[in-house]
Amino acid sequence: MTLLDIWVLDAPILRQDTTLVSGVTDSHRRLIDDMFETMYAARGIGLAATQVGRLERICVVDVDKARYALVNPEIVTSDGEQTGEEGCLSIPEIYGDVTRAQRVMVRALDRDGKPFEIDATDLLARCLQHEIDHLHGRLFIDYLSLVKRQAAMKKWRKLRGKDKSLTRTIEPRDAAEHHDRDEEL
Ligand code: NI
Repeated sequence: MTLLDIWVLDAPILRQDTTLVSGVTDSHRRLIDDMFETMYAARGIGLAATQVGRLERICVVDVDKARYALVNPEIVTSDGEQTGEEGCLSIPEIYGDVTRAQRVMVRALDRDGKPFEIDATDLLARCLQHEIDHLHGRLFIDYLSLVKRQAAMKKWRKLRGKDKSLTRTIEPRDAAEHHDRDEEL
């Protein structure tokens, strides 16, 4: 498996729509494996293909041991409302409160191309909505009020300084750190 670079906020690919996968192949399964490895190394709980520079409609999530690879995911139904803090592996160290559906039913194909559904609530529902947004070029900062978004952008520019790179390299994760809190999606 390979650790993939993660594209960050200014990269145009993060704003692109993805393409439906017409048949799950070994190459997609390799991508899924690499995405899981990259997500864990980056201490994330979700990762979408656009974040690693790919346009296949694929994302991975791991929330409270609920681990899923989702190919062509779509939200079938959504209910209720929850507001909570989100971050993103493509916008490190920036957080903001986002209101999303409390519960979603998501339909997708698994790594073998078999259809399945997830009935998700709370953080898993939030994570799925965040990742599916990525697959359509949307980022959590899009949901912030103008004032909060501008403040987040200002902080981002300051953190970045002179660094204009569009990707971040993920280092292998030290096994000893394994119990740290994962918080970016
Ligand atoms: Ni994200």
